Amino acid sequence: MSSYPQTRLRRTRSTSWSRAMHREVLVTPADLIWPLFVTEGQGVEDPIASLPGVSRWSVDGIVARAKEAVALGVPCLALFPNTQPDRRSEDGREALNPDNLMCRAIRAIKDACGDDIGVLTDVALDPYTSHGQDGLIDAAGYVLNDATVEVLVGQSLNQAAAGADIIAPSDMMDGRIAAIRDALEGHSHHNVQIMSYAAKYASAFYGPFRDAVGSRGLLKGDKKTYQMDPGNAEEALREVEMDLAEGADSVMVKPGLPYLDIAIRVKQTFGVPVFAYQVSGEYAMIEAAVAAGAADRDAMVLETLVAFKRAGCSGVLTYHAAHAARLLGA
Ligand code: PBG
Repeated sequence: MSSYPQTRLRRTRSTSWSRAMHREVLVTPADLIWPLFVTEGQGVEDPIASLPGVSRWSVDGIVARAKEAVALGVPCLALFPNTQPDRRSEDGREALNPDNLMCRAIRAIKDACGDDIGVLTDVALDPYTSHGQDGLIDAAGYVLNDATVEVLVGQSLNQAAAGADIIAPSDMMDGRIAAIRDALEGHSHHNVQIMSYAAKYASAFYGPFRDAVGSRGLLKGDKKTYQMDPGNAEEALREVEMDLAEGADSVMVKPGLPYLDIAIRVKQTFGVPVFAYQVSGEYAMIEAAVAAGAADRDAMVLETLVAFKRAGCSGVLTYHAAHAARLLGA
């Protein structure tokens, strides 16, 4: 056992070169996935009030962000559409439109950047439904599992046909990974990956995101009949096990920092690539602290990112991705 003064843990911390040499994990731009919100129009940048510093961009602006990401070494974008109100419906059928906002954005990025960047697409119906739920609902408002999975399969094929590289189902229906994997294989999308939002919690941290995609005002009730209870960890392992068995290439834990225990347990249990989503409410908390003069943004952003790496994550979806990549590249 270590004893003092033979052991002084401060020895290796005493100089900058030594701290650098002993650092266990590093964050690089390649660890970052940048979530972006797409809106209609041309030349549009529409700031999101509850996410200060984040905007919705029209497709041309999204392409500019994609080129920025490539230059910064950020390997992947995550896209979310702000669907026009008149294209939202009870059954979310706009998700199946090959020319919807999402598909136009995917095609534009792929035309401009090809395989210089990956495009991850969210699969769930909430940006398309008039009730803001992630799936089809019955008369009582309950989200129907199997009927929803059928639509999600169509949504996934639609995104893959437009050029999506990673399909990321965020809906938490049972059985959707197998159904989507089968359909992708059946349509020769053998190399289209699936990153499953496997352990996604019914969280209070998603508020600003729902503003960004325009579903907050529409959502009736909550998502607790499909998203996980924040008190559960064993159940998260079952979710991950099931999604891996059904063909997920990687899994996600969401939200991020409040669920680092889940990330490390998933990594230690399954040894698969784990990603964490530092969600909109987490971003907003950091920005609020900075605005209040209570925190140093750059230091806080980098510290939170290294925490994800320490917890075994392969990468992090973060609204600070471009900013962090700039800090890391400097
Ligand atoms: C949609 C979805 C949500 C987020 C990602 N995909 C919101 C929700 O489940 O209500 C949240 C991301 C964030 O808060 O940044 N299914």
